[in-house]
Order: sequence, then structure tokens, then C-alpha cells
Amino acid sequence: MKILQIHRPAGVMVWRPCRTESFLTLLIYLGCVTPLHIGPMISSPRSAFSATRSSSALGGTHRTVTFDRLLVNIGDDFNPDTGRLRCRFPGAYYFSFTVEKFPEKMLSVMLVKNGLEVQAMAYDGYRNQGRKVHSQSVLISLKLIDTVYLLLQESPNYAIYSNVGPYITFSGYLVYPESTSSVGYLNNHLSPPGLHLPGCPPPVDPQYNWRRRGAHEEPRSAFSVARTSSALGKSKGRREREALTFDVEYVNIGGHFNKTSGRFTCHFPGAYYFAFTVGKHPRRAVSVKLMTGREVKAMVFDEDTSRRREMQSQSLLLPLRRGETVWLYSQQDEGYAVYSNQGRYTTFSGFLVYPDSESLDRNFS
Ligand SMILES: *[C@@H]1O[C@H](CO)[C@@H](O)[C@H](O)[C@H]1NC(C)=O
Repeated sequence: MKILQIHRPAGVMVWRPCRTESFLTLLIYLGCVTPLHIGPMISSPRSAFSATRSSSALGGTHRTVTFDRLLVNIGDDFNPDTGRLRCRFPGAYYFSFTVEKFPEKMLSVMLVKNGLEVQAMAYDGYRNQGRKVHSQSVLISLKLIDTVYLLLQESPNYAIYSNVGPYITFSGYLVYPESTSSVGYLNNHLSPPGLHLPGCPPPVDPQYNWRRRGAHEEPRSAFSVARTSSALGKSKGRREREALTFDVEYVNIGGHFNKTSGRFTCHFPGAYYFAFTVGKHPRRAVSVKLMTGREVKAMVFDEDTSRRREMQSQSLLLPLRRGETVWLYSQQDEGYAVYSNQGRYTTFSGFLVYPDSESLDRNFS
């Protein structure tokens, strides 16, 4: 209820002027002179970019991966010439990228925050003729003016390939803005109707659906974790299947992911997005399943037992009920493993995209 009290006057301030000429004039005046100053008060913060690169880059000559085509740049926070996103709204951002290995070179591209804080990487250590794309994604928390970019390994043994295809892509968007502002920034997934419209919104209705007005405090749930060591499969007879566990936590909004047990537990029914990337260990196959309870929902597999180290990615949306758990199962036999090291090849992320109306009801009351 506290937040409603903050919001109600804000709503009145924005809406009531439509009925009185002087305020209307003031609004128009403000709208013309300082549109950016009004904007954030009546709409949720937005930040999203997607960029592609249509040429190759060689390690040593290129360091930060830059982009020549910008598909989306909501909020103008991404600069394709420098390849950097600069955070304007603190919050949790989801980033994903895909890069292609150059023939006879190795691939190593890191997602980096500020001065060389490695968040995750895409890797392929096999210097063959072939080209192959690899993907990686994580959800990370950013503060004001944090920068995020992709860094290519500084050695001519590494390169990324692209042409007009293009094969190199980099995207990111703000999933949950930090809700510390007195304005109470709304979640960008569900803006209450009318609030974001420029011009004159509808007058205040005493019967207004307060449940929807409360959408800014809609449930939030997000996690993103990584491993900094490999997990080797062992044949130990028939035991209870254990989840892949994690030691690095980027984000755990709501605390619904337990990195010791490796399990995410749904607290708010709704549609969730999940993505994971696992490294392939030299001389071992990789087989990782995304599970809900005891059911397999998606998997990655590579039975190549060469010395090659590379990765596999998978993602999907799942409808979850309260109490359901989501976890990764790595085949627990000697022939299988998941590779990772400080470069954080192996990552697992998930977040609530749309809560069911039941979640909204419950959270509001
Ligand atoms: C997390 O999982 C571990 C291992 O299963 C368990 O001991 C611990 O109580 C769990 N933590 C929470 C907060 O549930």
C-alpha cells in the first residue's frame, strides 16, 4: 500500500492538468522544452540493443568487437563504433552473443564489464579448417555508467569470422530496472495501460483497477549463475540424479535459485525464459538436460570425444507452476563431463517473462 500512496499523487499530477487550461499549457511547455525530463516519470525505463558485424576480426589487431549494423538501439545506450553498452538505468540486463570461429584459428571471446571483469566466454580451441558458431548468454546486474562489451583474445592465434551473413551478433536488454527511485520505476514487461502514452491520458477513475496499477510491484524472479570448474561424470552406481551446481552468482533476484543444490524453485507461476551454455571437456562427451522436476524439457549433446574444447547452448520458455523446480542434469557416467574454468564457459540463466494473473493477485495482496 505504501507504493500506491506514492503513485497516486504522481498520477494525479500527470492526469489532472488535462482538465485545467493553465496546467495543460504548462505541460505542453514542459513537453516542448524538456521532453526528456518528463519522459522517465511517466514511462518505465527502456534499454535494448542488437547489433551485427559483417567482417572478420583477428586477435591482436582487434581487441573490442565493434559492429557495423545496428538493428535495435532503444535508449541509445549502445555505441556500435566502440562496441560498448553504457548503462543508463541500473538494473538486471540480459546479454547474449554469437561468434564464429575463423578457419585455422581458435575462438575466444569474453563478455566483459568495465575494466576487464570477465562475465562469461565463448570458446573453441580446435584449430581446424572449419568454421563454427558458438553462443553465450548471462543476466548481469549493472550500475549507472557501467560498460559492457565483447573482447577478443589478444593473440593472432584467435580470430572471429563473419561476412555479410552475418555470423557475429550481440544483443542485450534491461529485464528488471532497479526499483529504488521514488518514482518507483515500472518493470518493463508490463506497463499499466495509458501511463506511457504521450499527450493526455484518461482522467483519474476512482474505479481504476488498482491491481493493474500495482503492476510495478509485479513479482520478479531472475537468476544467472556460472561454474569456474569442470564437473566430471562418475559411474557410482544408481543414485539419485544430482543437479549441476554453480559457484558464481551474477544475479539471484528473489533468491529462488539455490546454487548449492543447483535448483531453481518457482515462486510465482508464469512463463519463464531459460538459457544455458556448457563447455565440452577434452576427450569426454557432453550431454546436459534442462529438467523440470523429473521431466526433460530440452538438452544439448555432443559425443565427439576428441581433445576439442568447445561449447553448446540451448534456450526456451517454460510455463511453471508454484513449487516446480528447474535444474540441469549432466550425464553422470565416466565418458561425460562439463568443462569450465575461470573463463566461465558454463552458465545457466532464467527469468520470469510474464507472471500468471494468479501471481499478480497474490503479490499485490
Ligand atoms: C540449498 O540447497 C542445499 C543443498 O540441497 C540445502 O542444504 C540448503 O538448505 C538450501 N538452501 C536454501 C536457502 O533452501
